[in-house]
Amino acid sequence: MRQDPLSYLDDELNALRKQGVYRHLRVLDGEQKAHASIDHTSVVNLSSNNYLGLTTHPELRERALDALRTLGVGTGSVRTIAGTMAIHMELERRLAIFKKTEAAVVFQSGFTANAGTVSSILGRDDVIVSDELNHASIIDGARLSRATIKVFPHRDVAAARRILEELPRGQRKLLITDGVFSMDGDLGPLPELCDLADEFGCIMMIDDAHASGVFGSHGRGTVDHFGMHGRVDVQVGTLSKAIGALGGYVAGSQSLIDFLHHRARPFLFSTSHPPSVAATCIAALDLLESEPQLIDRLWENTRFFKTGLQQLGFDTGISESPITPVIVGEGALAMTLSDRLFAEGVFAQGIGFPTVPKGRARVRTIVTSTHTRDELQFALDAFRKVGTELGILHRNPDQ
Ligand SMILES: Cc1ncc(COP(=O)(O)O)c(C=O)c1O
Repeated sequence: MRQDPLSYLDDELNALRKQGVYRHLRVLDGEQKAHASIDHTSVVNLSSNNYLGLTTHPELRERALDALRTLGVGTGSVRTIAGTMAIHMELERRLAIFKKTEAAVVFQSGFTANAGTVSSILGRDDVIVSDELNHASIIDGARLSRATIKVFPHRDVAAARRILEELPRGQRKLLITDGVFSMDGDLGPLPELCDLADEFGCIMMIDDAHASGVFGSHGRGTVDHFGMHGRVDVQVGTLSKAIGALGGYVAGSQSLIDFLHHRARPFLFSTSHPPSVAATCIAALDLLESEPQLIDRLWENTRFFKTGLQQLGFDTGISESPITPVIVGEGALAMTLSDRLFAEGVFAQGIGFPTVPKGRARVRTIVTSTHTRDELQFALDAFRKVGTELGILHRNPDQ
């Protein structure tokens, strides 16, 4: 009988089981909402990136349905052959206006936007200077580019400077940071990095996946938040988080976008978005323009929940955004915390190595503008109960 050549995968999976970090996929029974049914359990959902509740917004649904009726369900081609519809061009026009750049191009996901861009604009003679906690898609793009990768400690501008000082002046180099770091919720030091980029002649790139729709005027992101328009050469955003649908984009100069049309492999070799996705994203941009109070509500909820967790005595790290980690240390403890919270009616996913460093496992919480105060208080009560039970509160919450 033929031996299964993939049997080593079972060994690895068994090792994960032994460490207590093997995860089953949680399944939504219905829509992605602040209060959802997951695995047939009604829970307050603190694990989505649906910052503004747009995944189920009535206006977005209508616009998607309109596009389905009038333009069909798919495009049948990659963008560069027959898969570019007028609605894709319109979305890109709108994204360029939103990000205050000359042009923009949409990719199938934020992941492919990062990976496709970094891997195509840099080559083997170049250097990428990257924060150690940058997103996996940046790391993969950097590897694919074959450029030399120099990693600086998280948010350590002085260390980034030391790396740059050692590089030849004429060397082509990319300085790259996340706008909001997805596991800690803290911000990249964009103004200081832009200064470095100016001084050392770097291409400056930011991944604003978690900042678009959240930071800056009408959700324009951290470039707007820090007043850095015109100083960041490559801005990546996602359409999969606050925008509520799917996709990623790059905003920058017309030349950058023209180049990506010719060289970014996910753009060239993977079919374009169904028109309903593009229509949904345009409707979301309309909403960001007309209803900025959605973002205000997100921030009110963020302040309430973050303060609540801190007052209970949890270690919430250095978050400055709606992403608030509850850091507990070992992976197995994070998974137990997550499971116990779920049993109490709160979904906050446990996250361990390799997504976060060893010893920094956590459950990650993300509030949205659509959580009610009662839902957030319910979640805080559950955290208090389970945190006390597991002995992970730094202070006695009754003090
Ligand atoms: C910082 C960051 N960049 C990029 C991405 C990828 O975005 P998408 O989910 O649209 O592929 C994510 C999502 O996980 C992210 O957190």
